[in-house]
Amino acid sequence: MTYFWLKAGHVIFVIFWMAGLFMLPRFFVYHQEDGPPGSEEDARWIEREQRLLKIILLPSMVIVWLLGLSLAFAADTWMQGWFHAKLFFVLLLSGYHGWMAAYAKKLARGERSLEGRKLRLLNEVPGVAAAVIVILAIVKPF
Ligand code: HEM
Repeated sequence: MTYFWLKAGHVIFVIFWMAGLFMLPRFFVYHQEDGPPGSEEDARWIEREQRLLKIILLPSMVIVWLLGLSLAFAADTWMQGWFHAKLFFVLLLSGYHGWMAAYAKKLARGERSLEGRKLRLLNEVPGVAAAVIVILAIVKPF
């Protein structure tokens, strides 16, 4: 029973984490299009991005990791192929999260190193990673 509660919590926070990962690059696109550096709009977007990172993204990622690792201990999945592959993609997703947090800091300093088209393309990363991770966790193909 405890295991199922852990799993429910895990999936709930996965949803919050993914929602944040989908929203942030969208924010970056609107920020760069509508808020020239130093403008009032620029300050408002910086505040929105920092709040999304602090209130949703960071806590969700930490909880997903804690509950995911608890599940791995409880079900002893350490030697299973699907779990190794899942960990690889989850590490990739965590790296993407870190890269986005760094890009938000750059934007706050007035640096805009990527154009909107590239940001929109990067927005596909969490979607593809989530699809692969969910298939690995549910189908367990190997
Ligand atoms: C952060 C590191 C993560 C770890 C260590 C982890 C580990 C685990 C483990 C051990 C299970 C239990 C599998 C079972 O009972 O057969 C599980 C379930 C699940 N995980 Fe994760 N997970 C992580 C992140 C994620 C992410 C990012 C996603 C989705 C994008 C995800 C989606 C799922 C789903 C959908 C299940 C339920 C599978 C089922 O039906 O049993 N997990 N996770």
